[in-house]
Amino acid sequence: MSRIAVIPGDGIGIEVTREAVGALTAALDRSGAPRVIDEFPWGAEHYLKTGETLPPAALEKLRGYDAILLGALGDPRVPDMRHAADILFGIRFGLDLYVNLRPVRLLDDRICPLKGRTTRDVDFVMLRENTEGLYAGIGGQFRKGTADEVAIQEDINTRRGVERICRHAFALARARGRRKVLMSDKSNALRFAGDLWQRTFHEVAREFPDLEASHLYVDALAMQMVRDPSQFDVVVTNNMFGDILTDLGAALQGGLGMAASGNIHPGRVSMFEPVHGSAPKHAGRNVANPMGAILSAALLLEHIGRAEEARLIESAVIDCLRERRTTRDLGGDLGTREVGEEIRQRIERAPAG
Ligand code: NAD
Ligand code: IPM
Ligand code: MN
Repeated sequence: MSRIAVIPGDGIGIEVTREAVGALTAALDRSGAPRVIDEFPWGAEHYLKTGETLPPAALEKLRGYDAILLGALGDPRVPDMRHAADILFGIRFGLDLYVNLRPVRLLDDRICPLKGRTTRDVDFVMLRENTEGLYAGIGGQFRKGTADEVAIQEDINTRRGVERICRHAFALARARGRRKVLMSDKSNALRFAGDLWQRTFHEVAREFPDLEASHLYVDALAMQMVRDPSQFDVVVTNNMFGDILTDLGAALQGGLGMAASGNIHPGRVSMFEPVHGSAPKHAGRNVANPMGAILSAALLLEHIGRAEEARLIESAVIDCLRERRTTRDLGGDLGTREVGEEIRQRIERAPAG
């Protein structure tokens, strides 16, 4: 029995999650796999109505599922993003989902913005540390609203936190038959954090003598991702750099609408979501590309041991891309619901086994 919690969230998150659940259900139907899918209302609407962001019992409830599927959070009616921070970080930090897995994989040559690049050139995994760094929420404000205002946001890097994400990067590379692990930081300028990342990464690398460990400063990595993305297998970096670089990674895959991600604690309940946000200006217009959310559902299935169903979803997405059954961001003329329906049909009709 697969138990899946769904948090559609806000804006286009709601629209793309509907299609992701549709694809996931269609794939599980193919194998007759029993499942429970429960939806949770946490998001802007719920917050504005009840004042509740992430309720106190939420984490305990979520621990009762095999995995969580999330849309996106962010609504112009909540300008300080209070609910989004409580819910998104509440779950990432509260469930200690320290691996942010963000594949950078181009599924169709024609949607790559780089000249002459093909699906063979864009196929690597970016691992973003997901529980510390600048996101730890350590700091404060002083003399707020005056001319002497001070804001401090600390960059927290722990030996344990850096070590576990680095070790995951090497283990993942080995498990997937990839050869190279690259760590990216800014140790030429950010000396203390950089020193911890450098020493830890190289120490962990010694446990994996069969793999090649290398390093790029984050500015150089941004340049190399555009110049020649084919050089990467697994890239590991901190929370902030990983956030920025994975939007660049999304662009290499055809845009934010295409990028999938997982917030993972190996062996525990983990959360899957598209890389994009709630795109308020597209909300309610049936124009959002649901493929990033649908591919996140495939990552979820893979994580819970349903690799066959995950593959069904991926193939259906690839077929739609080949046949140009896509939303406008990819040059197609379909809406969110129509792309979802096309993908479901291909899952239903795929030859058995
Ligand atoms: P965004 O990802 O929501 O949208 C940026 C632009 O990317 C959009 O205007 C659109 O042109 C394009 N885009 C994104 N998703 C798309 C899709 N599925 N199909 C087609 N085009 C797509 O980023 P933003 O505008 O910076 O943020 C909007 C809100 O979302 C903010 O409140 C932000 O904090 C939030 N956000 C939430 C998450 C999350 O919940 N994980 C992630 C990123 C941003
Ligand atoms: C992401 C998003 C979030 C992040 C925002 C919404 C806080 O940009 O998941 O990439 O920075 O982690
Ligand atoms: Mn982001």
